[in-house]
Amino acid sequence: MSSTHDFPTLTVVSHPLVQHKLTLMRDKNTQPIHFRQLLKEIAMLIGYEVTRDLPLSSEPIETPVAPMNAPVLAEPITIVSILRAGLGMADGLRELIPSAREGHIGLWRDPETKQPHEYFIKLPSEVGRVILVDPMLATGGSAAHAVDVLLKRGVAREEIRLVTLVSAPEGMKTFAAAHPSVPVYTAALDEKLDDKAYIVPGLGDAGDRIFGTL
Ligand code: PRP
Ligand code: URA
Repeated sequence: MSSTHDFPTLTVVSHPLVQHKLTLMRDKNTQPIHFRQLLKEIAMLIGYEVTRDLPLSSEPIETPVAPMNAPVLAEPITIVSILRAGLGMADGLRELIPSAREGHIGLWRDPETKQPHEYFIKLPSEVGRVILVDPMLATGGSAAHAVDVLLKRGVAREEIRLVTLVSAPEGMKTFAAAHPSVPVYTAALDEKLDDKAYIVPGLGDAGDRIFGTL
């Protein structure tokens, strides 16, 4: 499941299908229509891992043959997208968990300062388990800020999971320092950031590649 690295809260989902699809996404010739589809498929595969520890309760039902107490999800699940690029991952998780509620945190990373700026927040009143999604963990500023937003809105820290597609060691270090108990799931831990704080080798600007705003 996980490759070797220095981050105890990080799970790198090394499933061959995830890795193959990520390679297709990294290719600069992959067009938005395929990029979006691949992101959705990877989000579903990572979704299987990030939901592995969801609590279950039991409910009485009747099968056509006999009554039984059957397992059901014990609490609501909320997918929170960091806008814009998180929307591309939410597409996959929504398909996997159709009953999930959804929230949105709009953040824009200033290209000069690399600091996130908040422009939109909308969350359900009761969230339960929160799966926070953003394909890129670069400096870690946006993801760390989004968790701060959730905590300020009363979400329990232990209910938060972060799902990314590609992560930089610098971003993971910053995120883990800010939120040391929040588990992170990613498809790849890349090499480094460049001088514009883009992930190397990365896949470029995820939002632009999803929405064709290159
Ligand atoms: C990108 C990406 C993350 C953020 C990562 O979003 O989707 O949200 O940058 O960078 P960080 O880890 O250094 O904070 P961007 O701000 O470009 O907005 P967009 O999704 O609307 O394109
Ligand atoms: N945001 C992106 O979309 N890509 C990066 O490599 C860094 C930040």
